[in-house]
Amino acid sequence: MDLTLLDRSPLSTSTPLLAIPVPEGDAPLSGWAAEADERLGGALSAARAAGDFRGKEEDGALFYLGGGEAPERILFLGMGKVGDLTPETLRKVAGRAVRRAEGLRLTGVTLALPHLEAESGSPDAAASLEAVAEGLILAAWDFRELRSEPKADDPPPPLVTSGVLALPEGFPLKAAEVQDALRYGIAAAEGANLARTLQMRPGNVATPTHLAGVALQLADQYHFESRILGPREMAKEGMGALLSVAAGSDEEPRFIVLEHRGGKEGEAPLVLVGKGLTFDTGGVSIKPAAGMEEMKFDMSGGAAVLGAMKAVGMLGVKGNVIGVVPSSENTISGKATKPGDVIRTREGKTVEVINTDAEGRLILADALSYAKDHFEPAAMVDCATLTGAVVVGLGNQAIGLMGTDDALVEELRAAGEHSGERCWPLPLWKEYRKQLDSPVADMKNVGGRAAGTITAGIFLKEFTGEVPWAHLDIAGTAYGDTRAPYHRNGGFGLPTRLLLAWIRSRTR
Ligand code: BES
Ligand code: ZN
Ligand code: ZN
Repeated sequence: MDLTLLDRSPLSTSTPLLAIPVPEGDAPLSGWAAEADERLGGALSAARAAGDFRGKEEDGALFYLGGGEAPERILFLGMGKVGDLTPETLRKVAGRAVRRAEGLRLTGVTLALPHLEAESGSPDAAASLEAVAEGLILAAWDFRELRSEPKADDPPPPLVTSGVLALPEGFPLKAAEVQDALRYGIAAAEGANLARTLQMRPGNVATPTHLAGVALQLADQYHFESRILGPREMAKEGMGALLSVAAGSDEEPRFIVLEHRGGKEGEAPLVLVGKGLTFDTGGVSIKPAAGMEEMKFDMSGGAAVLGAMKAVGMLGVKGNVIGVVPSSENTISGKATKPGDVIRTREGKTVEVINTDAEGRLILADALSYAKDHFEPAAMVDCATLTGAVVVGLGNQAIGLMGTDDALVEELRAAGEHSGERCWPLPLWKEYRKQLDSPVADMKNVGGRAAGTITAGIFLKEFTGEVPWAHLDIAGTAYGDTRAPYHRNGGFGLPTRLLLAWIRSRTR
């Protein structure tokens, strides 16, 4: 979507659809809502008086205006109580505006940002502007590249390709601050949209080699340093864990490294690590057939890291940020790793592979070990669709968060709140470590039924040394049926925007 800012009243601008958010309650209408109501001869006031439009989050009312330099349609969107307003509410409002435009088969939408009085609790102006920009661009994304030409009599709705934002009068930001907020919202959403596109591509398209190709394109576009390791370089690095996962597949694994050097020379970087498992059959410990197609999403963490790197590049972040994506398939053949096999990780620790379906932690182990030794990070954050257990524990609403550094964990929790990609902490107490004890090797790759998400975290911790590190388990949150109006069914691009919010909190 092409997003622009309007420098005059949206009520005297021609647009196919003008969306105006309206707060819940009986307070007199103000701002664009009041003006629009007047232009419509009190239509909104009448709808409010009749109780048909109360300003609740699900409320919407559409009116038509005839001709001239004016919107063709005005859509009032309830936004709930002003006191409950968060950036996420505004992101959703923007998403609803796009969905309505789509339903009307329009390709453009104008959204009037509500005037947010400095009432206690309402989000600040920059965060609001970022949120609506994100909401519009996220909502406009779709994945159509694998469909054949639509039939002439049944075309899908066109994409909403043009978005316009109108600021309220007296908007409390300077022009440069407005531009910064817009730039941030656009970068965050485009990064997330790249992640979504990669998530949607099936295992036969988004192979490890494909992800490496996308990474190289990003490197080209944003002047990142890049490094792609193939199986031979992995063997030289001693990455026995990653190679043991790739062993059963005819697709070659790739180890992807992108470096954005926007900070001072010698400044310790922030390192993002994402699980790039392009299809997880479970290996010899094979998964049941039903729903296995969803395991194309097992590269969601890697996709989010690439998405976050895109956003970092677009913004020219003033800090050193490195993205690392270990990428492999987990499939079966005569060469596949078998339950009971013992492998040697890059770190030198040996692992008894009890269950070949617990492969994510294996490829991440080598990636964390590599990042720790090669980059001496200021902090390292990994994200991975790692355990089914996190779905049991936190459902689809929260990312599982754990780490070795309380300050880092709190930073990520706050970034999750800000971005709407919320995460919730779990403990990594040393007492859990004994669940990984193996009779033959330094550790097993699974810790039994109890605390499955935590024991996966405990496993990863073994490969992080002294580096402040945190882990995001996104198995319950990265994809699914749409959870917000700016989503579609499929991949959500999460936690791209969380990671970007965290990077900003560290670099500005
Ligand atoms: N990719 C899966 C985790 C997963 C499960 C992602 C559900 C998305 C939805 C991971 O590789 C896996 O299979 N984990 C096992 C670990 C177990 C064998 C200890 C799991 O969670 O069942
Ligand atoms: Zn698995
Ligand atoms: Zn997996």
